[in-house]
Amino acid sequence: MFTPEMLESVKKVEATRAARMQTEPRRMTAEEKDTLLKAFHPDYRADGFAEIKIGSNKGEKAPLELAQLLNSNSRILGVDIDLNKVDYDVDVLVIGGGGAGASAAIEADNAGANVMIVTKLRIGDANTMMAEGGIQAADKPNDSPVQHYLDAFGGGHFAARPELLRRLVMEAPDAIKWLNELGVMFDKDEEGNMVTTHGGGTSRKRMHAAKDYSGAEIMRTLRDEVINRGIPVVDFTSAVELIKDDKGQVAGAVLLNMETDEYLVAKAKTVIIATGGAGRLHYQNFPTSNHYGATADGLVMGYRAGAPLLYQDTIQYHPTGVAFPSQIFGALVTEKVRSLGAMLVNVDGEAFMHPLETRDVSAASIIRECKERGKGVETPLGQGIWLDTPMIELIGGEGTIEKRIPAMLRMYLNYGIDMRKVPILIYPTLHYQNGGLEIGGEGFTKTIPNLLVAGEAVGGIHGRNRLMGNSLLDIIVFGRNAGKAAAAKAKDVELGEMNLDHIKAYADELEAAGVATGDVSPLLLPKYARKGR
Ligand code: FUM
Repeated sequence: MFTPEMLESVKKVEATRAARMQTEPRRMTAEEKDTLLKAFHPDYRADGFAEIKIGSNKGEKAPLELAQLLNSNSRILGVDIDLNKVDYDVDVLVIGGGGAGASAAIEADNAGANVMIVTKLRIGDANTMMAEGGIQAADKPNDSPVQHYLDAFGGGHFAARPELLRRLVMEAPDAIKWLNELGVMFDKDEEGNMVTTHGGGTSRKRMHAAKDYSGAEIMRTLRDEVINRGIPVVDFTSAVELIKDDKGQVAGAVLLNMETDEYLVAKAKTVIIATGGAGRLHYQNFPTSNHYGATADGLVMGYRAGAPLLYQDTIQYHPTGVAFPSQIFGALVTEKVRSLGAMLVNVDGEAFMHPLETRDVSAASIIRECKERGKGVETPLGQGIWLDTPMIELIGGEGTIEKRIPAMLRMYLNYGIDMRKVPILIYPTLHYQNGGLEIGGEGFTKTIPNLLVAGEAVGGIHGRNRLMGNSLLDIIVFGRNAGKAAAAKAKDVELGEMNLDHIKAYADELEAAGVATGDVSPLLLPKYARKGR
């Protein structure tokens, strides 16, 4: 399976393994990290960004592809939508069928609201399903939410919104309890205690997991709960624009049936945007670990309706995406592989960094090793760095890989690579948007009183870099809170006359700024989607 050059390099990795296992590479200093990030992290590449031309974040930068979507017109500009013909009328409309949307819907239902989920693919087709390594919560005697806060605040370059991060860490233990009681099969020891591990940048072992398919297990449980409760889920139907009313409130959404191309109207007293990430925009031509529908739709709809963005210019490149084999290029190799002991090693078998630096630092360090130091391993699609997985079996004992990361093992065995015996090749992959729509502690946007956001579409929870396991956590904490808050708010909302005036106003602004291109957004599906039925 490996090329002759790769096999030569594997020999060097094997030759240095015993010595490497005796000495852990040192951690970088704050100054070293700073210099490294500025030189090698993609967030610092000026040519990867463009200016947002209109709206609340006018003049700020965004990744080129996102800026292009924000500088585009609505796909329903000029389309005659009859807002008097209401197809769905609910208290709470949840846009998005991932972990945040499902959690929100469950809590809104709990609170007695008439809630509906609309999702452009199927419920569970989401980044939640793709999450592998685990979910953080400080629920062990040697840990505390304060410790969790400090780790996440530092890892996010002290930019997280304190009220959001505080809520995240304080409500984490209850989130785990809730999931456990719903039926998530977390890894436990013989006494029934949760097994926890480290992630990059954690000072305590607080990563709870269901082997290496934690997200799939959480999504399975949430999806079952939604279905068992009889919460309506309208699938293969995408929200394409928010509807507003004459009081400046949000009043629902225009939906597009993805199978018939028919437009539908959903009226709602409160709306929760839970549309997830943007990996399928392939910023800077990176491959992605994201699901097929991750195209930043919620950011575009929310922004066009007048909700500001926060930290839209900061993106997470997961340090370990698959670099080889090409068939699974960019797929996630969970950080848990490094938590269990695998080191990052260059073409000459040298460990060039501590394996559990935070993600932005790790990604930048891998890029430097390949691009500047010429120490990457050539692959058909670029370069890679070794992740020395046989170390896991040497540290944890034979069978550790099969027991703790069986999905990884199976993924590689499909291509004839036995990661228990040989190292695997990785390179950073586009994984997460650190930024998104700005919210307050209760989940409401700053400018539209009955519009909420939850999950990856939120900006500010993690600052400018997120630690492993804090995303599965935020979809639960902020999803549940949004569901409760939306249900409570819906009781007070009196909707006025529905309209789509903001779409015309946005078009006029684009025209005035001289940037109307004829492109339309939100994108809904990746550019390479096969069209037609
Ligand atoms: O590496 C991972 O398993 C990814 C986890 C995360 O993004 O939180």
